[in-house]
Amino acid sequence: MLQNKEFQLGVCYYPEHWPENMWENDFKRMKEMGFSIVRMAEFAWSIFEPNEGEFSFEFFDRVIDICNKYGLKVVLGTPTATPPAWLTHKYPEVLNASQEGINYQHGQRRHYNYNSSIYKDLSARIVKEMVTHYKDHPAVVGWQIDNELNCETDVFYSEADHRSFRTWVKEKYQTLKELNNAWGTVFWSQTYTDWEQVFLPRKTVSDSPNPHQALDEKRFISDSAISFAGVQQKIIKELAPHQWVTTNGIFGHIDNHQMTSNLLDFIAYDSYPNFGNVITDDTPNPLLDRRWSWNLSVVRSISPTFAVFEQQSGGGGWVNRLLQPAPKPGQMRLWTYQSIAHGADRILYFRWRTATMGTEIYWHGINDYHNQPNRRVKEAEQIGKELKRIGDRLVCSKYRAEVAIVKDYDNEWDGELDKWHGSFEKKSLQAWFKAFQYSHIPADALYIHNTTSLDELLKYKILVYPHPTILPETRAELLKEYVRQGGKIIFGCRSGYKNINGQCYMLPFPGPIGDLCGITIEDYTLIGPKEEAPVIELENQKANGLNDEIKANDFNEIINPYSSDAEVLARFKGSFYSGKPALVKNTYGQGEAYYFGGVFNEELTNQLVDRLEIHSPVDWIKLPKAIEISIREHPENGEKFIFLLNFSNEKQTIEIRKTVHELITNSELSGEVSISSYGVFILKVS
Ligand code: GAL
Repeated sequence: MLQNKEFQLGVCYYPEHWPENMWENDFKRMKEMGFSIVRMAEFAWSIFEPNEGEFSFEFFDRVIDICNKYGLKVVLGTPTATPPAWLTHKYPEVLNASQEGINYQHGQRRHYNYNSSIYKDLSARIVKEMVTHYKDHPAVVGWQIDNELNCETDVFYSEADHRSFRTWVKEKYQTLKELNNAWGTVFWSQTYTDWEQVFLPRKTVSDSPNPHQALDEKRFISDSAISFAGVQQKIIKELAPHQWVTTNGIFGHIDNHQMTSNLLDFIAYDSYPNFGNVITDDTPNPLLDRRWSWNLSVVRSISPTFAVFEQQSGGGGWVNRLLQPAPKPGQMRLWTYQSIAHGADRILYFRWRTATMGTEIYWHGINDYHNQPNRRVKEAEQIGKELKRIGDRLVCSKYRAEVAIVKDYDNEWDGELDKWHGSFEKKSLQAWFKAFQYSHIPADALYIHNTTSLDELLKYKILVYPHPTILPETRAELLKEYVRQGGKIIFGCRSGYKNINGQCYMLPFPGPIGDLCGITIEDYTLIGPKEEAPVIELENQKANGLNDEIKANDFNEIINPYSSDAEVLARFKGSFYSGKPALVKNTYGQGEAYYFGGVFNEELTNQLVDRLEIHSPVDWIKLPKAIEISIREHPENGEKFIFLLNFSNEKQTIEIRKTVHELITNSELSGEVSISSYGVFILKVS
């Protein structure tokens, strides 16, 4: 694995959009701003291969030589996200198609499919040509495969995809009998009697495909994307083993963990936190752009230290969609440190200058169309200066968390179609992440895989696994062992009732974790849209002056605690199950398992954080809600950096109960200290 030892700051640059006489001045200014790396070429196939089999490198040679002159390193994108017109015109079978079978045409990007053998061959050829040409260029340090696999669309229905899916299921199930069992095709007479009858889910009445087939569809898409990227990775690694390989993302229907561990040196993320300021969120105290700290936590679960290849530097918007306001003064800097706080060691802004043509004329870069100094250029200069001084000290330090929110791809993908758990997952995850954020408790994301080890779980004091609906026996065993050895785990409703194919177990809920939780589920119900949701009454809360009644929205499971080690912590009030257990704690081995028969909301997660005595690991700083705390630590020498990020547009006061060194201002802080709107502190603790 090729890792950098120096912090790198840089920018995405599209020389093909600008007159050649601007290049030199652009690179010179980048250098002066403290940038050291530039990404380019990821959409430039028609420049490298203007006609089939005719390759041309003069254009990018000139660009990259100027970068080299200014000491700027270059990461090259392979251009396969944008097949040229000659290619799709001559080989229409490379196009992706809608579920109705209508091809997506030239005019946008990502209109190809992963399974066309012609596209794989033509992609392999352009990548081979590029790598052969640039493998020894002193400026070129690494490669980005394609651009944002599965962005724009994450479903594929071309002829080639249907055919490959057939091969994929054949390999997976071997016999039609196995396939029919796994997909439960006896239901509604869907039984297959010939492999030729098998397709990816096509248009069905009321858009309700076979759910088990729909789950396999996502697994297949992930395998297809990884295999497509794998062809390119192999070429790069064979020809240029000294240059690193990554891809940027991250998007749906790809097991990014598997892809990264099989193919990449590290993952690169494209971070646009301003989306958090425009997406609908009707929960109290929404996290807004701070919500991206969860996305960054997921990225960190893929690569503990990672790159950001597109860090938002301006307001967003395509001509027809994705409309966003401009970042406020200070927000671009705040979001840069948000990425660093979560593990980024290499950050490139999107983009150097706002494009004057095409779909993205409103997706603003650091420079405006006019190319005159502006406030974003000034902000980038400030960040460049700061990171030049302190960046290298942070590199390779690792984020520290004592709690983790657990996820897995099976449930993520099954929950897309299955509304009986998918939407709950999002609500509960948000409620837990917000409780941790506002209580200043750094939290990791942890994706459970077949290869996840007990040691990986034992790193955490507490795991929250809100709704593991699909829960195979082996995964349940791993969780049990974690608790046996002293871990604490928290589940919500809809846990443990499906097998790996998404079929229901003929077992009392919560299936294979029933004994871990010391319970069975006696009865359950969805809360109908016209029904008043019951509340749960928490024991002892009133005595402590806390609200003892919390709404139990969406779904209720009535718990029957059968173990003598199970303790009822809350009961339902309302509906036909008034007085029945709603939240149970079970002592199991050295640890504890909590089961809540509902969907988590913030009121409950806040109270559980208190009840489980989950505290901020930094007890000598008092912080207001608006400040996020993150900790990075060097594994070798224990040197720690505490990041304090002010996400509000107002100055905040914090209290530091000792004297500490602040890295950015290079000063000592203690007592009551104010942090400006969108301000950042990095406290160094040895
Ligand atoms: C990313 C993409 C970039 C650019 C940016 C802004 O998804 O990789 O090429 O499109 O968004 O829309």
